[in-house]
Amino acid sequence: NLFDFGMIGLGVMGRNLLLNVADHGFSVIGFDKDEAKNAALEAAATAGTTVKGVPDLEDMVRQLQTPRKLMMLVPAGQPVDDVIASLLPLLEKGDVVIDGGNSHYTDTLRRVEYLKETGINFMGMGVSGGEQGARTGPSMMPGGNEEAYAHIKPILESIAAKVGGVPCVDYLGKGGAGHYVKMVHNGIEYAIMQLISESYALLKRGGLSNQQLHETFKSWNEGLLQSFLVEITADIFLQKDDKTDAHLVDVISDKAGSKGTGKWTSQDSMELPVAVPVIDTAVAMRTLSGYKDERVQAAAIYDELISDLSVSQEELVKMVHDALFFATILSYAQGLAMLFQASKDLKMDIPLPKVVSVWRGGCIIRSTLLETFSKAYNENPELSNILLNEDVAALVKSVESGMRSVVSLAAEAGVPAAGFMSALSYFDAFRTERMPTNLIQAQRDYFGAHTYQRTDIPGTFHTEWGQN
Ligand code: 6PG
Repeated sequence: NLFDFGMIGLGVMGRNLLLNVADHGFSVIGFDKDEAKNAALEAAATAGTTVKGVPDLEDMVRQLQTPRKLMMLVPAGQPVDDVIASLLPLLEKGDVVIDGGNSHYTDTLRRVEYLKETGINFMGMGVSGGEQGARTGPSMMPGGNEEAYAHIKPILESIAAKVGGVPCVDYLGKGGAGHYVKMVHNGIEYAIMQLISESYALLKRGGLSNQQLHETFKSWNEGLLQSFLVEITADIFLQKDDKTDAHLVDVISDKAGSKGTGKWTSQDSMELPVAVPVIDTAVAMRTLSGYKDERVQAAAIYDELISDLSVSQEELVKMVHDALFFATILSYAQGLAMLFQASKDLKMDIPLPKVVSVWRGGCIIRSTLLETFSKAYNENPELSNILLNEDVAALVKSVESGMRSVVSLAAEAGVPAAGFMSALSYFDAFRTERMPTNLIQAQRDYFGAHTYQRTDIPGTFHTEWGQN
């Protein structure tokens, strides 16, 4: 009996995703050189499902039904190319190979092109939701050849998270589009995490205990801010340490890690270019968090506490709520504007209504806000920035004043709030009909004869500055 689906790489993500496929009635086979991982896979299988793990790639490929459908979940970079090289002599025209890791979209594009000549369909797919999501319902962002997608669609739709019965997976565009969408998803993930940490800093400065922080985030998760990240944040404040009697969050080092996808989003936004300053700020703040020694020295030179917060706890909680909601919308707006532009410039044909639909469940940035965005894109799939949608604008306006208060308060009290400040500055520039950048054009022409355009007469002009 031949197997329906194969997985290369049985780390936690590969194993969980494969078990999820098996739970939905497909027979599955996994390959890992490490026999312990094959054993772990088989041991974790649900009773009555068909799950096998083998230590030989050729053996696995031979046991797959044609056209073969297989996925790899191996570390991004060279390991993906190595797997492709060993697969090539074993596969045939029409087979579908999915890379489900966090690969850079340019690598995916290169691999799609390279394999095209062989007739093997290579697809890059972003998978979000962590270990738990992989096992019970991830959000998946596949891109590449649309005809090849038809072969894997039934499997992916059955294992995906569902929102109102709709699977959180869809064909998201050509070439490297799947990994591009996942990269931007992660940029937004970085931005929202940064904003939540700034909210935490402000509320903590306002004197809220971990218990109060838990209650605050829990109640936020029941309203406008309902989202996976706010939900887990509420949980985090309750977690006790098992080594001391502290709350775990209080003994965790403040150096934040990163695997690069947030940085890629910023880098690529500058290539396009598209402005995503909240994402850029989030990346920079993680980097700054690593300057521990210098921060310790600087803390001794500069007073950390500039002043107390000048508002009651109740007012503080209300305004931070509003600021977090405002800046979260701005984070999505910037990421989605980037996808809009990249889709055109890189000829990926990314369907934005489908992207926000896929993000509604299973992924790290799932939130009820995506329902509003989904409606906005269904009304106008060519919406260049969601801030231009009426419903979104009404939400933004409803919390704008809280956003402004938080920025003033943070500046006054010396609480770092770069994400909030960046979100508000982007908004203030974006809603400005005439920016002060006419002066920059004048300066460029002054020192470098870079020319400028006028508001009243068409054409390109240069002036010998300082002559009159
Ligand atoms: C997801 C996440 C995940 C990501 C990690 C690590 O959607 O499930 O985005 O894919 O790899 O969260 O990200 P950093 O280590 O860069 O924070």
